[in-house]
Amino acid sequence: MLSKEANERLTRVGPGTPCGELMRRYWIPVAPSAQLLENPVRPVRVLGEDLVLYKDRSGNFGLIGNRCLHRLVDMQFGIPDVNGLRCPYHGWLYDADGRCAERPLESNKSELRQKLKGYPVREMGGLLFAWMGPLPAPALPRWDLFVWPNSVRQIGVNIINCNWLQCQENTGDPAHSVWAHGHFFEYALERSGKLEERMSSGDHTIHTRKKWGVGIDDIYAAPTKYGFEKGIGYSRAQGAEKDENHRHSTVIFPFYTQTGKTGSPRSEFQIRVPMDDTHTYHICYQVYAAPPGVEAPKQDYVPWYEPPTHDAQGRPILDYVLAQDAIMWVAQGDIVDRSQEILGRTDIPIVLLRRQLEEQIKLVEQGQAPMNYFEGETTPTLYGSCEEPVDWMAEDWFRRKHVFSQAYRKMYHKGFALDDADRYGPAIELVKDLHRRIEEFEIAARAPASP
Ligand code: FES
Ligand SMILES: [Fe+2]
Repeated sequence: MLSKEANERLTRVGPGTPCGELMRRYWIPVAPSAQLLENPVRPVRVLGEDLVLYKDRSGNFGLIGNRCLHRLVDMQFGIPDVNGLRCPYHGWLYDADGRCAERPLESNKSELRQKLKGYPVREMGGLLFAWMGPLPAPALPRWDLFVWPNSVRQIGVNIINCNWLQCQENTGDPAHSVWAHGHFFEYALERSGKLEERMSSGDHTIHTRKKWGVGIDDIYAAPTKYGFEKGIGYSRAQGAEKDENHRHSTVIFPFYTQTGKTGSPRSEFQIRVPMDDTHTYHICYQVYAAPPGVEAPKQDYVPWYEPPTHDAQGRPILDYVLAQDAIMWVAQGDIVDRSQEILGRTDIPIVLLRRQLEEQIKLVEQGQAPMNYFEGETTPTLYGSCEEPVDWMAEDWFRRKHVFSQAYRKMYHKGFALDDADRYGPAIELVKDLHRRIEEFEIAARAPASP
């Protein structure tokens, strides 16, 4: 548990708050860039600030305060100009720094002392990132999945109605899978009458996740270069098939988690961007990589989608993994009161996550740079999971038993996208095409060499 004061420090994200100041030391993903293809101007709420994201007619991105200085019209209705965004009401023009560059109908042409907020924006891997901290901005970290070559990508975004830390703590919780994605999943299918149909293949998320609950010896967690790793230790003594450690997804500080190894047929960053104290912009950044020797289908741009959380009758959709997680986060309340909780052994990694967060907040309070703040212009590719990417040929990855939960995520062409948000994605047919190509490649690689 945490004291109420400690809880406030880790959860509040507005300007001037301890965690808000920490968050302002990171490039923050604010939208898939493809959203600006549909409409070049859109409102965004980040770290408690209402802003407008736009692409001007020169192709430059901007992120400025949302209230026109004149009579406070919301700039989300603005007109992109050659260099900046114009208010639709009387045409005042703002540049990307938020300066009012023109007031067309005014007699007084002198420059205004006041300005809007204006934050730098960069694009990487189909996402737009904003810098809301002190200038100069540091490098935009090239986390591996954003830059991995020869891949299909899609980006799922949702607004989750609770504080960001509840979402991120889910990542520090390797044990929830057993229930939320095992027993609860089974119950949800049972209630909707789809259990038999969905379980008929014999290979299903429910099977693996329930199995993860058998033979647990301990839960482990340890800091890594960029965050921390954690997982479950199994032992025969406790009833597991063998003694082994099962690594769960890796945390990349402060708000990322990575599932699936880089370079594999399906990997993902889940990114929990605090919109304000009680809303989280949740991004599923999904990457489906082709091995050397297979060409991934081409995309003109990275498409985005919003995984639905409710059906036409307004009932929650519960038959895929992200939806199960999301409903748990919201069900904890707006901002969970951590002074009331009773932690157990499954929460060991969460304790580490909170400690790490508090340590990094303190560093910023002391005027120092926190973890994953990279000074300079560019960084080399960073392997967030601290694991080498999949080397298909050397590792013979596709033939290793690797737990089934990983393996079925290279079989979307055989219907296995059904348990994940991916099933709703606009690139899912391309992914199936890729997985088909990978299977053909594997079959050919396994075939004995002709004499
Ligand atoms: S309100 Fe924006 S220009 Fe008048
Ligand atoms: Fe989960």
